[in-house]
Amino acid sequence: MAMANTKPSESGRPTETSAASAKRIAFENVSVAYNGLTVLDSLNLTVNPGEIVALIGPSGSGKTTALRAVAGFVRPSKGRIMIGDRDVTNLAPYDRDIGMVVQNYALFPHMRVEENVAFGLRARHTPEEVIRTRVPEALAMVGMAAYAKRYPRELSGGQQQRVAIARAIAIRPQVLLLDEPLSALDAQIRRSMVDELARLHRELPSLTVLYVTHDQSEALTLANHIGIMRDGKLRAFGDAQSLFRYPPNRFSAEFLGRANLLEVKGVQPLDDQRAQVTFGDQVLIARNHHQLTAGSDCLLCARPHDFRLDAPQGDSNRLTGVVRSVQWQGDTHNVTLDIAGQEIRMSSAPMSTPPVPGAMLTVHFNPTDVTLVPEDGRHG
Ligand SMILES: Nc1ncnc2c1ncn2[C@@H]1O[C@H](COP(=O)(O)OP(=O)(O)OP(=O)(O)O)[C@@H](O)[C@H]1O
Ligand SMILES: [Mg+2]
Repeated sequence: MAMANTKPSESGRPTETSAASAKRIAFENVSVAYNGLTVLDSLNLTVNPGEIVALIGPSGSGKTTALRAVAGFVRPSKGRIMIGDRDVTNLAPYDRDIGMVVQNYALFPHMRVEENVAFGLRARHTPEEVIRTRVPEALAMVGMAAYAKRYPRELSGGQQQRVAIARAIAIRPQVLLLDEPLSALDAQIRRSMVDELARLHRELPSLTVLYVTHDQSEALTLANHIGIMRDGKLRAFGDAQSLFRYPPNRFSAEFLGRANLLEVKGVQPLDDQRAQVTFGDQVLIARNHHQLTAGSDCLLCARPHDFRLDAPQGDSNRLTGVVRSVQWQGDTHNVTLDIAGQEIRMSSAPMSTPPVPGAMLTVHFNPTDVTLVPEDGRHG
């Protein structure tokens, strides 16, 4: 049992003493087809024991299908799925030791909260005396202990989603699959639920989590690693920070954090780290994280906050353009610039005298803050 080393804490909540019993989830070359149409294509991905991996990607890219394959609701046409060292590909869903919160969550409307949370335990023929302790324990972990007797219709959306999570963890699964668990909630509640999920994972460090979301900020906040899906394929995978800073292709740069991408030419490596490129008649220097070879054309990826207004004299990485729009958003000023026909977005701390639309503005960037990204090819 994944949480055999669980002991009650002073708060009455179970805590775990180590993540030693955590199990990995591994997709080994997994494909899934519906009516002969491949919607998940040769997926290779590992969620390390006790980690949270977020799968993000546009609608229809195969995220839910990947989760359903782990849960056992859909059978791969190819490949296998491992949980720990166990090949679960041919096991029934209830033999897989998995907790799942499905997209468009549905609590059973005719059951009280406590009955909903007990559901998975009853299905597994858990003895009643165990159910009597597990249900309040799971509800306490999501801050819903006081709501055990209510019906779902008597709860807010966020509260219902907490109950759905309690229902998933009540069986003490080895792995937890979450499919857009917060998508039905408004932005503010979503943020506080993200904090709660982070806390829950600290309390259950042996729980291995695969988290599907549209929301990149959820992914960046919660996940150790992020996978980006498109058209049934994994297009990028990496730890959250390096994927954000050094996206391996145009699609992941645009999808995760809406990067500015300048089309630049003629890579000339300068040293292990940096390379020179040309943009129009200008020379720019950037990090060559993906070791692009000399002569190639590529994209220069810069985040809105990578641009600075206080360009030092003689600094080479300067870009001048026409201000298109200026937007004040409380703690930032967002400026859109047209540079030789390409639009870039920059954001800065609030300015006392912001530029006006139509004015010329020069921005600069640090070579090591921005990276070169291959347009396509080997990084896909
Ligand atoms: N039961 C099914 N029968 C046939 N096609 C399906 C079935 N379920 C999903 N699909 C198709 O498989 C593809 C992947 O769907 P999936 O639900 O995995 O996408 P998703 O990435 O989760 O999208 P979303 O972000 O909208 O939830 C889609 O093109 C979808 O139409
Ligand atoms: Mg989905």
